[in-house]
Amino acid sequence: MCPLLFVTVSVIILYPVDSIWPSIIPPPPKLDYHEWWGPEENTTQDTSIRPFRVHFNESMIKDLRTRLTHHRPFTPPLEGIGFQYGFNTDTLESWVQYWAQDYPFAERENYINKYPQFKTNIQGLDIHFVWVKPEVCGNKKVVPLLLLHGWPSSILEFYRAVPFLTTLSDGRDFVLELIIPSLPGFGYSDSAVRPGLGPVEIGVVLRNFMHRLGHQQFYIQGGDAGSIIGSIMATIFPKEVLGYHTNFGIVLDPKALILIAGMAVNPYLFMDPKLVHRLYPLTKTIEFLLEESGYFLIQATKPDTVGVGLTDSPSGLLAYILEKYSTSTNKEYRQLKDGGLTRKYTRDELIDILMIYWTSNCITTSMRLYAETTSKKELAFRTYETPTTVPTWVIQAEHELIYEPPNALRVKYHNLVNVTAIPYGGHFLALELPQVFSEDVLDAIKTFRGSRTAKIKL
Ligand SMILES: *[C@@H]1O[C@H](CO)[C@@H](O)[C@H](O)[C@H]1NC(C)=O
Ligand SMILES: *[C@@H]1O[C@H](CO)[C@@H](O)[C@H](O)[C@H]1NC(C)=O
Ligand SMILES: *[C@@H]1O[C@H](CO)[C@@H](O)[C@H](O)[C@H]1NC(C)=O
Repeated sequence: MCPLLFVTVSVIILYPVDSIWPSIIPPPPKLDYHEWWGPEENTTQDTSIRPFRVHFNESMIKDLRTRLTHHRPFTPPLEGIGFQYGFNTDTLESWVQYWAQDYPFAERENYINKYPQFKTNIQGLDIHFVWVKPEVCGNKKVVPLLLLHGWPSSILEFYRAVPFLTTLSDGRDFVLELIIPSLPGFGYSDSAVRPGLGPVEIGVVLRNFMHRLGHQQFYIQGGDAGSIIGSIMATIFPKEVLGYHTNFGIVLDPKALILIAGMAVNPYLFMDPKLVHRLYPLTKTIEFLLEESGYFLIQATKPDTVGVGLTDSPSGLLAYILEKYSTSTNKEYRQLKDGGLTRKYTRDELIDILMIYWTSNCITTSMRLYAETTSKKELAFRTYETPTTVPTWVIQAEHELIYEPPNALRVKYHNLVNVTAIPYGGHFLALELPQVFSEDVLDAIKTFRGSRTAKIKL
């Protein structure tokens, strides 16, 4: 997800106008904390929490194999080309073969069911989630952490990290309880039946969801779209969100963007010289964002059209989703014929993600999130320029799609506790580097809790 470009263009045009005539800024829309997103007919709220297991049934597998085996011949890639034009179709053929013939469906079904899963209905939507409660906690405090994935991701992004996140340590007086929902419209969570479920409204759904699980106060970790939702929750529920950790620290407040533009005069004066190359020269950054954000504008405008093909063709779905896992892990992987896909992930792990999108048939509804994120109604909340006072901690991987220096982040995050810049890693950090990711999250929560000593200990 890289909304930077879209919003940058909008704010460059709109910001001066709004500043001159502040009266034309419409008041933010009213938030309805009980807005119903399911079918209208039945507004009886079922408050139960039901166990759930993923099942790959025979008829689904048979149909999938047929589609994979009977795809039309792919158009050969151009000579000497890796992933620069998109997913390399020579490479695609071997993935499609593997998925149809060798992917161990039963074994991977067990892997996905490795952690306990549930569903509960919030505002008319069944929310599917993984819930890992610590087994042994000794005399340690159990602390809830809501983990939010993005697009094209799923609950599986956090699977490798779960053992690290739940490890007991003498250096900490707490142990984490992990709550990992599928975002509405993703995986086995329901999708809205009418327009308007953007990140702000999803933030309300997830806050009500945490209340359902008995958590009035909790910590949040998010990347990609999960960082947008997590940041909004921290902003609109500052008494409930005790700390916000993100691996995608992006501030779209026009003041931050103007600061970044101003710093271009001589960035070495204003930021860590070792990190200057991540953002400057700005033309290089903007060029990269233009090259990689075509999908963003399609999904923000016509998700249902592109969704038709992706819903019908598993090889199309594979190319569309895994291209993102290549480029977002390391932009240099675009030079490679195999997209570097198996350098950081196994084939099975990547196909697991596709299995979630395929079996739940969620590609179209997941892409609609982009349209809801950039709608006029959603932008009118102006959460991107509302200060966030909740303690915030940002980890910045070397190959993350967008980099902003700490002084730009502080424009929005008024309580920015720490910014950890690591010289490796990419966009899907929890999946790629689960231990580095987990240790940073645990450090953050330890620090958040330390600064609250005089207040309620949670
Ligand atoms: C309405 O929802 C409730 C709770 O989920 C369920 O018990 C009831 O059967 C539903 N009624 C209809 C008409 O679907
Ligand atoms: C098999 O799984 C598919 C996809 O998850 C689902 O749509 C279908 O209803 C299932 N069929 C049976 C017979 O359970
Ligand atoms: C910030 O993070 C770095 C790297 O993890 C760590 O060395 C440092 O102590 C942290 N600072 C604070 C204030 O916690």
